[in-house]
Amino acid sequence: MIIEQIKQLVKERFTGEASGHDWHHIERVYSMACFLQENEGGEREIIELSALLHDISDHKLNGGKLNMGGQVATEILTEFNYPEDRIKRISEIIDGVSYKGAGVPDSMTTIEGKIVQDADRLDAIGAIGIARAFAYGGNKNRPLYVPSIDPVHHETFESYAHAEGHTIAHFYEKLLLLKNRLNTHTARKIGEERHQFMEDFLKQFYKEWNTEI
Ligand code: ADP
Ligand code: NI
Repeated sequence: MIIEQIKQLVKERFTGEASGHDWHHIERVYSMACFLQENEGGEREIIELSALLHDISDHKLNGGKLNMGGQVATEILTEFNYPEDRIKRISEIIDGVSYKGAGVPDSMTTIEGKIVQDADRLDAIGAIGIARAFAYGGNKNRPLYVPSIDPVHHETFESYAHAEGHTIAHFYEKLLLLKNRLNTHTARKIGEERHQFMEDFLKQFYKEWNTEI
């Protein structure tokens, strides 16, 4: 079974990755993508393989190269003799999945792509999203918060990918914007609670920061 084989391959590659891109992130995205598919439709196998391979060559892990994921996924699936037309569909999804900055519009057109993107984005918000953001920031030696440095509205993927702000800024540069950039009805419903949790977190964070007792 191709799904099981790819699962094993991805699991081996991601084990021990500490920047928020560990195997468990992939597993959660995979599981959420399956749930969204049950409610929203789309072709199951394309969704499953795209979810498993969506971070296979993230620029944060591959030495800074942007947009390599589709190519790496194509190489892997070709080795498994997976049909070329289906590889192309998966590769397009992987290249379109990332958030590329507040000012960069999303380009996902297929239901399969929309579902995988939603599953990935739901894992970037809520309690897990908060945990991942600080894990990522710590991994990059970023401060939690620097009140004098404002968040940036990134107009290009280049500038977003090279952002070096504090982690609280990342909430305004990405996490709080995702609610309105979810594609499917089911994901939007799930996103509401997770978004509210981040709002509550920030409120409490500033309260403690400012010694408001
Ligand atoms: P995803 O895997 O959801 O596409 P990314 O690959 O963009 O997300 O990033 C992985 C995780 O690290 C996400 O939870 C994201 O919000 C977080 N992250 C990315 N960039 C930053 C940053 N500059 N500061 C803090 N967290 C970040
Ligand atoms: Ni991801």
